[in-house]
Amino acid sequence: MVYEDLKQKVAVITGGSKGIGNAIAERYGKEGMSVVINYNSDQQGAEQVVTKIIATGGQAIAVQADVSTEAGVQKLVDTAVKQYDHLDVWVNNAGMENQHPTTELSLKDWQRVIDVNLTGVFLGSKAALNYFTSHNKKGNIINMSSVHEQIPWPTFAHYAASKGGVKLFSQTIAMEYAARNIRVNAIGPGAINTPINAEKFTDPEQLKTTTSMIPMQRIGDPKEVAAAAAWLASDESSYVTGITLFVDGGMTLYPAFQDGRG
Ligand code: BGC
Repeated sequence: MVYEDLKQKVAVITGGSKGIGNAIAERYGKEGMSVVINYNSDQQGAEQVVTKIIATGGQAIAVQADVSTEAGVQKLVDTAVKQYDHLDVWVNNAGMENQHPTTELSLKDWQRVIDVNLTGVFLGSKAALNYFTSHNKKGNIINMSSVHEQIPWPTFAHYAASKGGVKLFSQTIAMEYAARNIRVNAIGPGAINTPINAEKFTDPEQLKTTTSMIPMQRIGDPKEVAAAAAWLASDESSYVTGITLFVDGGMTLYPAFQDGRG
């Protein structure tokens, strides 16, 4: 346990069954938080992290919901309040990606990525904001963005557009609700060792290409992103709102200019 104040707090994490969401759920459990872990299809992954948290004396519950729907996010608010009495921290983590040249990107693929990565962040934030404001509570929203809120990513136009959207959406609501004592921040992970990237990073050539784009010359661990999510959720970051905290080994630092090139 690192942050004392967290142990009183209740968090909802969307997309908590694998990858970064899973690591955040585990870390929040270790901090003594009560955690609502959302999943869409991977019930087993979500249940596994629930079991881990409960085994170490924490409280957690897995809840199926599609975060791109209003009914889905409301179910998460209701579960948090019913099980743990209140809600303090909302992590919009659920996300997806797939690769297509833009000329071949179907409207269906575009729409699904925008629905989950951007509309999901809007709906989750709106549900959390409604809860915080109607209960006159201080609140905390953390949105999972990406280095691609800043770095263009050819053949992932829908993904990059969704993350660019997450950036300005987060900053906008951070400003809109700052005076109500609601903080909103984003985290911008770089290349992290998660199931989304599993195929890519098990290919040694691809791994070499990716690490060459990272000044720290290694891919990140989900736990390193979870550490940022713990700090942002805690009162230790009490004066921080509207930022994107990049957790990327320096990927956003224009590594092509390394050694004075350019
Ligand atoms: C993507 C990863 C990618 C990384 C760096 C992330 O947002 O999810 O697939 O490796 O950005 O490009």
